[in-house]
Amino acid sequence: MNIYQSIISPILISGLKIDPEWLHQRLLGALNWLGQYPPTPIHLRLQKQLRQSYCLTGNLEADRAKDMTTKLQQNLWGLTFPNPVGLAAGFDKDGVAANMWSSLGFGFAELGTVTYHTQPGNPQPRLFRLPSDRAALNRMGFNNQGSAALAARLADLRTQLDNRPRSIPLGINLGKSKITPLEEAVGDYVASFRLLKDYGDYFVINVSSPNTQGLRSLQSSEFLAPLLSALQQENTTSKPLLVKIAPDLEEAEIAEITRLAIQYQLGGIIATNTTISRQGLTTQVIPSTSSLVAEEAGGISGAPLREKSTEIIRYIYQQTQGTLPIIGVGGIFTAADAWQKINAGASLVQIYTGWAYQGPGMVREILLGLQQQLEIYNLPSLSAAVGKNLEFKPL
Ligand code: FNR
Repeated sequence: MNIYQSIISPILISGLKIDPEWLHQRLLGALNWLGQYPPTPIHLRLQKQLRQSYCLTGNLEADRAKDMTTKLQQNLWGLTFPNPVGLAAGFDKDGVAANMWSSLGFGFAELGTVTYHTQPGNPQPRLFRLPSDRAALNRMGFNNQGSAALAARLADLRTQLDNRPRSIPLGINLGKSKITPLEEAVGDYVASFRLLKDYGDYFVINVSSPNTQGLRSLQSSEFLAPLLSALQQENTTSKPLLVKIAPDLEEAEIAEITRLAIQYQLGGIIATNTTISRQGLTTQVIPSTSSLVAEEAGGISGAPLREKSTEIIRYIYQQTQGTLPIIGVGGIFTAADAWQKINAGASLVQIYTGWAYQGPGMVREILLGLQQQLEIYNLPSLSAAVGKNLEFKPL
């Protein structure tokens, strides 16, 4: 057993009883410490142990590792994703562990949501586990240190790397500051993008979090068209811009967003954010607070979101005949869940709630499972499975 397994894993496992936000902050603190620069020999040893424990190829022989990595690698927007499983937005809002996600096996990580203004988010408690539904309810409200702080942190990271390329692509997810009125949202997003555009590999326009008043109304074409137009005007180096949508939209609304995404030459769509629906939940009373789920505001993530987000991915893929890349997110816990989203049309997937429940070994398990499906179907690479509707075959 290595030091990470003996210290952090038990915390994660016992985490069902601990305040999830407190635990989350401790984990980010530990990862920030592990990734500090310059690393001491202890840091280097721990980082190596992490990679051996959690990266797909951590303890494989070089030949086998090469074969696996090339099959799972995805190339999109001129970027190389070493594998298709990314960390979803909201986990590392301020990029404090930006250089550690690759050591935990992720093929990419999305930092943010970050807003132009520093903001504390909603009052605590604002994150709740619903274990019997394998779900979470959150109304964090974009607590973050602001775009300038993230830009400074990523500039430092670049200096530390001495301008060498990062090992995985980093996305940056942009939201609207709470104090900025909706009518001034465009300027707020553009100001964030201007500060950060040199530091992200791709950017996400988050118009779908349920916890900032009125944000979701920015998904309507009346607001979205000017927003996309202004961001593309600022986008002088042609970074891929994606829009992240809610799972609570009607098909006609999704079709309209897809049309705008194509018109404004976006890189793709992220489907989906958390849902405001309480449908399908068996939990009525939140264990940690004894309050009624129906009375707590916020978005639901995890297993109850799985089918809905997959349906939306399938719809967008069909609407666009696969011409617009999709990042699929919502309720992924297993390789079968990831395979379903890829086969519905997602080129990449992301996870949040599943990782929080199951711990860091999950990424590797998913990657091994995907790899097995490629072998079963005799496919040369993961991209050959995108949108193919192949069912997951258990071994
Ligand atoms: C989120 N999510 C999220 N999304 C986003 O675009 N910006 C954000 O800041 C956050 N913050 C956030 C906080 C918490 C506590 C959770 C649980 C989720 C949504 C997340 O990125 C993802 O879209 C959904 O959670 C669905 O995926 P999972 O969790 O079912 O894998």
